[in-house]
Amino acid sequence: MFAAEWQFVTAAPTTEFLPPMQGVEVALVGRSNVGKSSLVNALTGRTHLARTSVTPGRTQELIFFRAQPEFMLVDMPGYGFAKAPKDKVDAWVRTIRAYLRGRVNLARVFVLIDGRHGIKAVDEEILDLLDKAAVSYAIVLTKSDQVKTTEFAARLKETQEKIRRRPAAYPEIFPTSSETGKGLPELRAAIARLLAE
Ligand code: GTP
Ligand code: MG
Repeated sequence: MFAAEWQFVTAAPTTEFLPPMQGVEVALVGRSNVGKSSLVNALTGRTHLARTSVTPGRTQELIFFRAQPEFMLVDMPGYGFAKAPKDKVDAWVRTIRAYLRGRVNLARVFVLIDGRHGIKAVDEEILDLLDKAAVSYAIVLTKSDQVKTTEFAARLKETQEKIRRRPAAYPEIFPTSSETGKGLPELRAAIARLLAE
């Protein structure tokens, strides 16, 4: 599937603009700057498919990419500390939350956590929402290349501890780097398994 031709489908600023539900959808969520758009590019092998930036707040809409008629990958705006006006960020967060709650064909959400910082309160809020809505999710610990191996291992352990207390079936944690490619084969395989289900 990841070898397929990727197409931009649409950019939805609010839920009214969402594309019709068709096939399996996988969404990437996380704080601004955590590396969601970079992960879209790394997973698809297309350097400029999604727009990335050093400035938090780059992605401002739900961006849908399609590989096959039956598979959609969704890049989302970030929450937490986006450099954008508060009312705009609040509107994104409302849209993200409504999308996550109401998208019936959403097969898995990957919650990206910055490998340098670990889980923050805003991440816990999204995990709470996913638990309540019974949406299946997994954790992606990003930017493993940015910290020392021992520090990254500590973040991983800490993340496991925090996740263990959640009602959801213990979610998988993928240590990754979009820079070095670490963890990407595992992530692609996990997504491919969803399609096979
Ligand atoms: P928003 O759209 O603003 O919410 O951010 P985002 O989560 O989409 O982050 P984005 O992919 O734009 O990446 C933010 C910054 O982190 C960029 O400068 C990327 O180059 C950098 N980055 C992302 N992933 C990695 C990684 O694995 N390693 C390193 N070293 N840098 C990364
Ligand atoms: Mg982005």
